[in-house]
Amino acid sequence: MAKNFLRIFLAVTLLSGCKAGQQANHPSYPLDPVIEKKIDSLLKLMTLEEKIGQLNQLSGMGELTGPSIASSDHAQLIRQGLLGSMLNVNGAKATRQLQEIAINESRLKIPLLFGYDVIHGYKTIFPIPLGEAASFDLEAIEQASRIAATEAAAAGQHWTFAPMVDIARDPRWGRVMEGAGEDPFYGSLVAKARVKGFQGKNLADKNTIAACAKHFVAYGGAMAGRDYNTVDISERTLYEVYLPPFQAALDAGVATFMVAFNELNGIPMSAHKDLNVDLLKKTWGFGGFMVSDWGSVGEMIAHGYSATPEDAALAGFKAGVDMDMESRLYVAHLKNLVEKGLVNEKEIDEAVRRILRIKFRLGLFDDPFRYCDTIYEKEMLLNPRHLEFAKISACKSMVLLKNQEVLPLSREIKSIALIGPMADNQQDMLGTWQGQGEAHHAITLLSGIKQKLPHARILYAKGCDFTGNDKTGFAEALNAARNAEVIVVAAGESAMMSGEALSRTQLDLPGMQKDLIIELSKLGKPMVVVLFNGRPLTIEWMDQSIPAILEAWLPGTMGGPAIADVLFGDYNPSGKLPITFPRNVGQIPLFYYHKNTGRPTNDAQRYTSRYIDSPSTPLYPFGYGLSYTTFEISTPELSATSMGPSDSLLVSVKIKNTGNRKGSEALQMYIQDKFGSVNRPVRELKAIKRVDLEPGQETVVKFAIHPSDLAFYTADMTFKAEPGEFVVFVGSDSNTQLQAGFSLKL
Ligand code: BGC
Repeated sequence: MAKNFLRIFLAVTLLSGCKAGQQANHPSYPLDPVIEKKIDSLLKLMTLEEKIGQLNQLSGMGELTGPSIASSDHAQLIRQGLLGSMLNVNGAKATRQLQEIAINESRLKIPLLFGYDVIHGYKTIFPIPLGEAASFDLEAIEQASRIAATEAAAAGQHWTFAPMVDIARDPRWGRVMEGAGEDPFYGSLVAKARVKGFQGKNLADKNTIAACAKHFVAYGGAMAGRDYNTVDISERTLYEVYLPPFQAALDAGVATFMVAFNELNGIPMSAHKDLNVDLLKKTWGFGGFMVSDWGSVGEMIAHGYSATPEDAALAGFKAGVDMDMESRLYVAHLKNLVEKGLVNEKEIDEAVRRILRIKFRLGLFDDPFRYCDTIYEKEMLLNPRHLEFAKISACKSMVLLKNQEVLPLSREIKSIALIGPMADNQQDMLGTWQGQGEAHHAITLLSGIKQKLPHARILYAKGCDFTGNDKTGFAEALNAARNAEVIVVAAGESAMMSGEALSRTQLDLPGMQKDLIIELSKLGKPMVVVLFNGRPLTIEWMDQSIPAILEAWLPGTMGGPAIADVLFGDYNPSGKLPITFPRNVGQIPLFYYHKNTGRPTNDAQRYTSRYIDSPSTPLYPFGYGLSYTTFEISTPELSATSMGPSDSLLVSVKIKNTGNRKGSEALQMYIQDKFGSVNRPVRELKAIKRVDLEPGQETVVKFAIHPSDLAFYTADMTFKAEPGEFVVFVGSDSNTQLQAGFSLKL
């Protein structure tokens, strides 16, 4: 790896115009000379212990995602200047109390930095990130992050451990719910939108917090989809698939990076100097700081990489991990390591500088209590404007997977059977990483439908649970269904079936839900299944037997009213899948951005790359999602059929709303590089454009293609476009066959 890495490293440094080893400053991290001077002065005053204290982060109360080593007296550590940052301390009051100790009782009065997992909302909970990503609406994604930041900042937080920008192509992995799905291009757009949303224009503003691009890097490549597992991938895959969203977060000026739990090709990421220091900090010029994941520095002993806690502290620190979250090894060993001459105090100064820089940029030195205002906190949390946007965001996240003339439901309906474990379930609607969201604020589908149709008879029956094999509730559910005009089933995964350490080997509906749905379908009534889940599910049977399926993910506080709006046609769904839905677990990993092989897949031909017991195609492809209206899209027309190095091409398609409802389509442009010095994927997403059309309305949508859009890591790992033949595809999902060809002449 090391030798090869050097090759890549050199290629990348050449590209970015700087020599290996030279500190580059990325334009998103301009140094403020006034702040740097203040840091110089502060560093001169600090003892070595106080410096190391800035690198130490401990958890307060609240969520713990790993073993918290014996509880320590945080207040005492703060007083002694031995604790620079805390996570999981919530609320303006609690953060103020601890900040007061730092400011009034510690020698140098350096403010504490409070971090928290604000993943899809703080108190007002938005759809899970995968659901938000399904909106294919970057402005909405940015706005949801802005609201989350506003609430979190009002509640004393300075920093979120988000966005998670890990590309995830294995839906067994529970953390697919936390990211933007399978595609590096789309994942990069979403990463930028989320960073911009959290950080705004100025970190010192009252409604912004520092963001954290995590988990650096390739965590989503965990073998067999099992969390924390080994990642063994090629350098090319690392550069093409896993790194781009991190680079995008960096371009957006993300304040911090979090190192991943996994090892990458044998080296734990907490010890990966090549990537954390040489690539991220030096070559890319990242100017913020890097935090470990929970205890990840200490976990290098279990990995079999470090023999002792001191070795682990040394490896983590030397590998660019500036702040140690919860393993407590920096405070325990760094001083010794300096005394032994294994760490230079200047290196410690550099890590402290990176952390202080963010504290300064957040305005904490000007007013350490700026985020501790209980009156403002009260005003902001669950602010009606936030709730309204949470509803819009949930509407936008929904993906209509199938609709055989069932949806939208008529408002004239007099009786509805509402069945399933998610139908009246406040807790699970919020999903995992629900921040400070509280179940009793969530509005369920039952309440949403009641609000929408106050005069209809809603016959609610849970039917069964998420787990177990108890079918005793079936009779009540079937009875309700028999007495209703329409059956709506709310089924899926509970909140704690996706997220960290929540990998699954079977991706069908858990428990007895499938049996229940099949029984209900035998009644032959109009029926819709609303799915709540944190990952793609294998529901081919449902696609074959149920006339309408709506993917609602885990939709957050306002999920119920949002789903009711979609079911009854007040909102025309326009979400798109950010991740492929396979037919069965055996097809995994399955994603649109794959190579052709020498025997391209053809399910009708024996000696091709395929299965004998399943089609090779997905159940629903990346980018897929229906609407209550229909769109006709023309074959793309090109402004020219060849392009030179400084030219650009315009791709035009006509799109017409051919139905009788207003609707929105996310048009997607993909490009295939037909022949390359290395094999290229069958297609790659290059642009998305949303169009809103009235019934009968037609418009022309144009996409520009520049030679830089065709660049990739060539055989010698130079990032550039190669001359040759290309195909451009435009359409409503990654399967579109609407295409035109062009060539690049260099
Ligand atoms: C997770 C991180 C999270 C951290 C703090 C870890 O277990 O992997 O994503 O930010 O805990 O809660």
